[in-house]
Amino acid sequence: MNRIFSGIQPTGNLHLGNYLGAIRNWVALQHDYECIFCIVDLHALTLPQEPDALRHATREVTAAYIAAGIDTEHCIIFNQSMVTAHAELAWLLGCLTPLGWLNRMTQFKEKAGKQRDLAGLGLYAYPVLMAADILAYKATHVPVGEDQKQHLELARDIAGAFNRRYERDFFPLPEPQIFGEATRVMSLRDGTKKMSKSDTSDYSRINMTDDADAIALKIRRAKTDPEPLPETVEALEARPEADNLVGIYAALTNATREAALVQFAGQNFSTFKEALSGVSVDVLGKIGGEMRRLMADPGHIDAILHRGAERAAAIAMPVLDEVKEITGLLRP
Ligand code: TYM
Repeated sequence: MNRIFSGIQPTGNLHLGNYLGAIRNWVALQHDYECIFCIVDLHALTLPQEPDALRHATREVTAAYIAAGIDTEHCIIFNQSMVTAHAELAWLLGCLTPLGWLNRMTQFKEKAGKQRDLAGLGLYAYPVLMAADILAYKATHVPVGEDQKQHLELARDIAGAFNRRYERDFFPLPEPQIFGEATRVMSLRDGTKKMSKSDTSDYSRINMTDDADAIALKIRRAKTDPEPLPETVEALEARPEADNLVGIYAALTNATREAALVQFAGQNFSTFKEALSGVSVDVLGKIGGEMRRLMADPGHIDAILHRGAERAAAIAMPVLDEVKEITGLLRP
């Protein structure tokens, strides 16, 4: 059976982009693959984190996976740092990764900003750890949002570099799975900027834990333009805010942008926003409520993570052992 690996950083403010770009697609795919869904806490450390906030966010992301419908019997859910193979394999793969490949990564450039010399080595090496996450399980498929495409291409390049260096077909080249009407959900305040956990304005995103009032208020305040909704998808191209909201509506109702426009063409934003609030509250309200219920029992969440880590290690440790053998490292 083909194997999926994917993950989310526990850095607070899980939002609608994480849900529509990733988690929802995982739920749809979970029974057609063997699935491993990780909470990538080592990745979170590439930027400063408060220890208590990190622990809380790790449990909250776990709760979000379960509340959204991931089946913990069938799928493996665990936090990355519990399986040491990730960090070890990252070192071995890092030794095969030319700096030129890392220098191309746009996310590093964005996150490091102007003061690149002050950025940590971890932030720079981040995509190698991501490749290790995937390759430690010999995963064949990786469902993610559009923004992770470049990192996945790098993971394929690193897998290929290992296979060529040791002249064998050891790692499969993982396939990205980027699909749906909301592969890149944009900020509610600026349709040209990605919706992100770290945006300083909470009005820029709908959090998975927002209640019905907060969701309705944020959608009412979302930036739009003065024109009514158009008849065609092409006419949305020059209207980033309208395109984003229509894409969100389509994704939440399991429809296409075309179908959403058939319903709303010629109408003004106030009518459309009311409908969008309704479907957002329908979908996210239930998940948020379930997340709060799960978060009330951290012991239960921790037990799921422990069990998941045992199952994950049973797959990853033998792969790491084989890599060590191939590489020429003596083992006990
Ligand atoms: P992260 O934590 O930034 O995001 C988690 C997932 O959510 C998707 N996503 C979005 N999709 C649509 N619109 C948005 N505005 C939006 N924002 C985020 C991301 O594409 C991602 O699928 N490096 C990864 C985590 C990671 C990983 C991995 C993923 C570590 N190792 C191995 C897959 C496989 C990250 O930072 O995602």
